[in-house]
Amino acid sequence: MATWSAPGKVFLFGEHAVVYGKPGVAMAIRPRVFVTVRKSKSAHHARSPYIDSCFDEMGVKGSVYVNSQLPSSSGLGSSAAVTVATLSAINDEFGKKFTMEEIANMAFAIEKKVQKGRASPTDTSVSTFGGIVLITGTQRRRLPPQNLPLVVGNTLVSHSTSKMVEKVAALKKKNPEICDPILDAIGAVSLCGIRHFSDPHMLGTLMNMNHALLEALGAGHPSLSRLVLAARAAGAYGAKLTGAGGGGCMVAICPKHLKSRVMGAVEACDAKAFITNLDTEGARKEKDV
Ligand code: MEV
Repeated sequence: MATWSAPGKVFLFGEHAVVYGKPGVAMAIRPRVFVTVRKSKSAHHARSPYIDSCFDEMGVKGSVYVNSQLPSSSGLGSSAAVTVATLSAINDEFGKKFTMEEIANMAFAIEKKVQKGRASPTDTSVSTFGGIVLITGTQRRRLPPQNLPLVVGNTLVSHSTSKMVEKVAALKKKNPEICDPILDAIGAVSLCGIRHFSDPHMLGTLMNMNHALLEALGAGHPSLSRLVLAARAAGAYGAKLTGAGGGGCMVAICPKHLKSRVMGAVEACDAKAFITNLDTEGARKEKDV
């Protein structure tokens, strides 16, 4: 039996734009997903295409138990975390000797296949290696750790990443002259963001700009706008949707002393919220349960 965990993530900047090779910045956060794998002779159907694909890809049969503290379909990278933790646990339980680099690549291939070709390597990289990562196309660069007090708000409105990616693609196809500069501007926001990690006011301003640009691409939702505005009114430096949008989660960067107030303001909008910060660790082995 082998138990591995992997963290969730937020996009500080750049979702959707990363799908078109523009720079984006994502950060591993708590909570984590825990997956236990045990050898077994009969094939186990996990009823998750991600988990089934992990066993198929590794060419083994086993049973699996998932304990996820991350809400699913909410933009926090839970499918990537489940995939990375499952592959890592299979790797360990079956003595396969894949490196973490290979696990990250396999996890990305699985996400891409399950999401019908629509995925960037962001979620799977961040979940495998932890920390803050600058993604540009298929390149990833780990950035120095930062202390960024964040509040994540979940609208509880479910959304589909592939549908949202498709929606943006359709708008871009119809209006490339408008959408291409917006995607370029999001890439520029990401690059500006990594130069201002020590300036939370500037980071907040850039997050607000990124949110407006994502809304222009059709990735917004009234429930997201409500939470973003509530967080800003409660004193956050800035707030934006995180992930594919159309529902799911938002993230706010806050002064340390206002984290609880911002969380309360978000929760007062019929949402679930939690305070989080960077998780520098990626996939890791846990004590067997
Ligand atoms: C989803 O968390 C973020 C998107 O950019 C898609 C992706 O990067 O795979 C919308």
